[in-house]
Amino acid sequence: MKRKGYLEIIRLSKEYGEVKALREVKLTVPQGQWLTVMGPSGSGKTTLLSLIAGLIKPTRGKVKIGGVDIFSLSDNQLLQFRREKIGLIFQQHHLIPYLTALENVMLAQFIHSLPDEAEAIDSLIKVGLADKINRYPRELSGGEQQRVCIARALINNPGLLLADEPTGNLDRKNSELVLNLLSKLHQESNFTIVLVTHDPWVARWGERIVQLEDGKVVDDFLVQKSRGRKR
Ligand SMILES: Nc1ncnc2c1ncn2[C@@H]1O[C@H](COP(=O)(O)OP(=O)(O)OP(=O)(O)O)[C@@H](O)[C@H]1O
Ligand SMILES: [Mg+2]
Repeated sequence: MKRKGYLEIIRLSKEYGEVKALREVKLTVPQGQWLTVMGPSGSGKTTLLSLIAGLIKPTRGKVKIGGVDIFSLSDNQLLQFRREKIGLIFQQHHLIPYLTALENVMLAQFIHSLPDEAEAIDSLIKVGLADKINRYPRELSGGEQQRVCIARALINNPGLLLADEPTGNLDRKNSELVLNLLSKLHQESNFTIVLVTHDPWVARWGERIVQLEDGKVVDDFLVQKSRGRKR
């Protein structure tokens, strides 16, 4: 019998007018797997991630998360589902400039349910920002801003973390800090990750790599764990 995944992508296609951004993509991602999506610019990586997040609708096909066919939900149900089950991290940090690190995390709690300051502080301690909770985004380095985003994305314990080029704006040292942190949190909580990157060095932090080209999966393999991967 075929093993069911936590995330199931079934013949997913997305067309923007004439442009075929995704062509019948099929993927099964087991719960707790860290999947990296690679591929050249324009190959459909962000489109795929946006569809998994339910931010855009497919032309054809399905996305199932924990057995739920997300595009069969009403808009309100989908919004609620995303808030409860999905954490999002982007290349640009999307922090609110006039809120402190702590307030940015608490805003995410508020959108989800109720702000809980102690829990928000705890999540910022977890990402190594104990001494910077009251700083504004402009007073934080790029790596620190991205760590606030990780705290924010994980504040509601989502089952699925989606990250689009999360280290795209960071140098190697800060990328390593962010990826080390993600690895640690992933080991602790075992959420499923889909991370998009151009960078083969970043891709090796995950467990499996899917290569997209022209909207199609052209390669899909497990990462060899033993060599060259820092923890
Ligand atoms: N809103 C849109 N309207 C029209 N075409 C779009 C739209 N979004 C993406 N596309 C097109 O769909 C294709 C896939 O785009 P996508 O953003 O998914 O690529 P990507 O792999 O994320 O690229 P990059 O690595 O540059 O971020 C491209 O040809 C792009 O021009
Ligand atoms: Mg993209």
